[in-house]
Order: sequence, then C-alpha cells, then structure tokens
Amino acid sequence: MSGGGGNRMGEGKVAVVTGASAGIGAATAAALAGAGFRVVLGARRLDRLRAVAAPLGGEAWSLDVTDPASVEAFADRVPALHLLVNNAGGALGLDPIEAAVDERWRMMFETNVLGTVRMTRALLPKLEASGDGHVINVGSIAGFEVYAGGAGYTAAKHGVAALTRTLRLELLGRPVRVTEVAPGLVETDFSRVRFGGDGERARRVYAGLRALSAEDVADCIAWAATRPSHVDVDLLVVRPRDQATATAFHRGAEGGR
Ligand SMILES: NC(=O)c1ccc[n+]([C@@H]2O[C@H](COP(=O)([O-])OP(=O)(O)OC[C@H]3O[C@@H](n4cnc5c(N)ncnc54)[C@H](OP(=O)(O)O)[C@@H]3O)[C@@H](O)[C@H]2O)c1
Repeated sequence: MSGGGGNRMGEGKVAVVTGASAGIGAATAAALAGAGFRVVLGARRLDRLRAVAAPLGGEAWSLDVTDPASVEAFADRVPALHLLVNNAGGALGLDPIEAAVDERWRMMFETNVLGTVRMTRALLPKLEASGDGHVINVGSIAGFEVYAGGAGYTAAKHGVAALTRTLRLELLGRPVRVTEVAPGLVETDFSRVRFGGDGERARRVYAGLRALSAEDVADCIAWAATRPSHVDVDLLVVRPRDQATATAFHRGAEGGR
C-alpha cells in the first residue's frame, strides 16, 4: 500500500481529490483509498477519471475548477467530507515577462489559485461539520522559488502558498487542518501540458535524472492526511535527490537510477 504510513486512518472518512484523472491526483486517489478513505474524484476528462475511480470503488464526477457553476454543482453532490485535496493545476508555457501571454497567466491563476479558493470556499462548511476536516493544497517549490520564464506559474504557486497560510490563520480554533505539499520535479504530464503537447521538449525536462514519481508525492499527501487530528503538517517540501533548487539539477548518464 502506498501512503498512509501503513495505517487505515481514513476508514469511515470521505476525501475529495481535484485533478484526479492523471498524475499526482490519480496517485493520491489510490493512496487515500489504500488508507481507507472513500474517494470522490473530480476532473474534466471524465473517461480517464472513471478509469482511475473504478478500481478504487470511488466516485468520478465532472469538475472544471475554473468554472464557478461546475464547482457549485460538484460541491452540492458531495456528502459529508473530511479531506479536500486541491491538486488540479499546472503551468502553461515558459515565457519571459517581456513576452508574457495574458491568457496563459489568466489560466494559471484560474486553475491553481482561484480553483483552490473556489473548491475550499464551497466545501469548507462540510469539512467543518465533520468535526475533523483537512484541506491539503498541492503547491510547488515554485511557491517559494523562481526561475527565468516561470513567472506566470511561480506567481500562481506563490499565491497558493499565501492563501494556504492565510487559511490556517482564519481557521484557527476550528476543527480543520491546513497543509501545503510542495513538490519539486515530478515526472507526469505536467511538462507536456506546459509545452502544448510537445512530448520531446517535455522529455528533456526529465532527461538524465531521476524525478519524483506521482506515487512519491501521493505518499507524502497520504502521510499528512493520516496523522492524528491534532497534528497539522504545515508545509511539506519534497524534491528528487537530483534536484537542489528549481534550477540546480544533477544530470548524470544513469540519471541517479
Ligand atoms: N509535475 C511536477 O513537476 C509538479 C511539481 C510541483 C507541483 N505540481 C502540481 O501538482 C499538481 C498536479 O500536477 P501533475 O504533475 O499531476 O500534472 P498532470 O499529470 O498534468 O495532472 C494535472 C491534473 O489537473 C487536472 N486539471 C487541470 N485543469 C483542471 C481544471 N480546470 N479543472 C479540473 N481539473 C483540472 C487534470 O485533469 P483534466 O485535464 O482531466 O481536467 C489532471 O488530472 C498541479 O497543481 C501542479 O502544479 C506538479
């Protein structure tokens, strides 16, 4: 079993995972189901989402976090809720600020920042009513580091980091934990999406090093989710051994494998 430290702390609890049709979200759904959670999954590609949910006995519901009506419809269907994993997100392009494309910036903020805000706002009453709620936001090392060409994404993930810390302050004294999991390089569809489907360019991002897998990050998320209720994992930063910062990599012939 991945994640959860081998325990079944999720037994009898419901978890929502956004962006669960691929990558970290799909792996998180599996790790949480392995820890006993009943998983309710959301994403836009319903066929892929159903394929993730079916073996886990979970629910697969259409969700576009950039669309307020979609978020409301999704949230209305959610039963009692203990855990919300705001994972939907990603990057578009690698444009320097002097060539910034407004629409790409808008989409990165809509998905990573506003998507997280909308889902949290809509589901907070149910999380609080459970008496033992938890919001886990998937941030990034881009939430506290920067790199040339990355401003649209780093600004958005800095936003996620800021709203996560603000939420912790606002919920003080109420039964809802707040966690940010901030990964470094993870080998998923992230770079292919960032580069508009250019698989070769995406492949070069991971060449010669051993990146984290989606399961590695899911393990961290499930670990944070399965601590006792009074233990709030605040910020969990996880990187590959082959990565020291957003720009410092060790690329060897064997790629650390
Ligand atoms: N990969 C990395 O190196 C890395 C590092 C740090 C942080 N992260 C963060 O980890 C999270 C997951 O990324 P990933 O690496 O797993 O990438 P991925 O494989 O591309 O998965 C992204 C997921 O987000 C969903 N999504 C995108 N836009 C959405 C929307 N508007 N509404 C609902 N779902 C949406 C996608 O599903 P649909 O397309 O089906 O909607 C997909 O399931 C993101 O927040 C990303 O910023 C990734």
